[in-house]
Amino acid sequence: MRDDRRRHRPGAAPAAVVAGVGGHLPPDVVTNDDLSARLDTSDDWIRARTGISVRHVASPGTATSDLAVAAGRRALRSAGSPRVDAVLVATMTPDHPSPATAPEVATRLGLGDVAAFDLGAMCAGFVYGLGVASGLIAGRAAERVLLIGAEVMTSVVDPQDRSVAVLFADGAGAVVLRAGTPDEPGAVGRVVLGSDGARGELLKISGGGSRERRSGRPPVPGGEYLRMRGREIFRQAVERMTDSSRAALEDAGWKSGDVDGLVAHQANARILAALGAELDIPAERQLSNIAHTGNTGAASIPLLLAEAAGTGRLAPGHRLLLTSFGGGLAWGATTLVWPDVTPGH
Ligand code: UT7
Repeated sequence: MRDDRRRHRPGAAPAAVVAGVGGHLPPDVVTNDDLSARLDTSDDWIRARTGISVRHVASPGTATSDLAVAAGRRALRSAGSPRVDAVLVATMTPDHPSPATAPEVATRLGLGDVAAFDLGAMCAGFVYGLGVASGLIAGRAAERVLLIGAEVMTSVVDPQDRSVAVLFADGAGAVVLRAGTPDEPGAVGRVVLGSDGARGELLKISGGGSRERRSGRPPVPGGEYLRMRGREIFRQAVERMTDSSRAALEDAGWKSGDVDGLVAHQANARILAALGAELDIPAERQLSNIAHTGNTGAASIPLLLAEAAGTGRLAPGHRLLLTSFGGGLAWGATTLVWPDVTPGH
């Protein structure tokens, strides 16, 4: 029998509970054939090695905040209330190096002078954001938090780098979290987080920061682009998501067989298959939309939740295991029983 440890103790700190969800994909798409027309790659290679067929990209002039506002608005509609106390934007592609993107998003959403800040944990940003939002709610600094993952990854992709250009794409997803109890549907379980700065070189944008600016040397051409050591990142992604997922399951008192849906960062279909095999969660209990979204960084998990809730793939009561991994390195995992929420339009 399942040993469920999500019991509410009177007087305990409030838990973060999902109250709304929304996603936004920009309308323009790039197919594998479009990429093959300008790069030494092919539809067959991309499908076989990544599972991606098509991806959405922001039109010229569209920035991360534009996608974040669209997704955030939908999540607020889904939650049925425009009131929040804090806005967190998880992104590695902010509109500007400074200030953060979140205050602009909060203002454009008409949320007033609420707390607003960005969170940089690359593709792990949304799961890190769940941890931070849970902390804000548990510490009673906020009762309601809008957490958005939003990226214009195409702004940091070197169009000539085929291993990166085929993977990354644009989009945004958001959830509203409210104060509740740990035993109710939608309550976010303990968020297991980790990092490994010794492997920061594996996925990095090296230019544009204080390290380069104070080096006394001119900027390195191409330093503004995301560089990736794909094979090593692949291995690390599987290992770190597996380990953090096991810790999150253990904390919830769940076994792999209790999981109705594995909601992992959509990095590569082969990473998802390897993770599923490690965790003993077969393909039919994994959620995926990478075939038509590509890797949307910090947006991938909330986008997938919004899409799956909209199609009915995700139903109230489903026990979900969420896990993500990105550059830093940074990773995390948590559990969640899906609540009765309908994505906002
Ligand atoms: O969001 C979190 C961070 N990102 C990830 O998690 C992504 C992790 N990594 C990956 O998804 C994969 O490593 C890639 C899709 C990037 C690459 O797949 P792979 O199976 O690991 O290929 P590889 O890097 O080992 O390269 C195999 C071959 C190489 O050619 P040689 O050296 O064997 O001649 C590459 O140059 O495939 C070549 N290659 C390509 N060929 C056609 C690399 N990219 C492409 C391409 N089209 N787009």
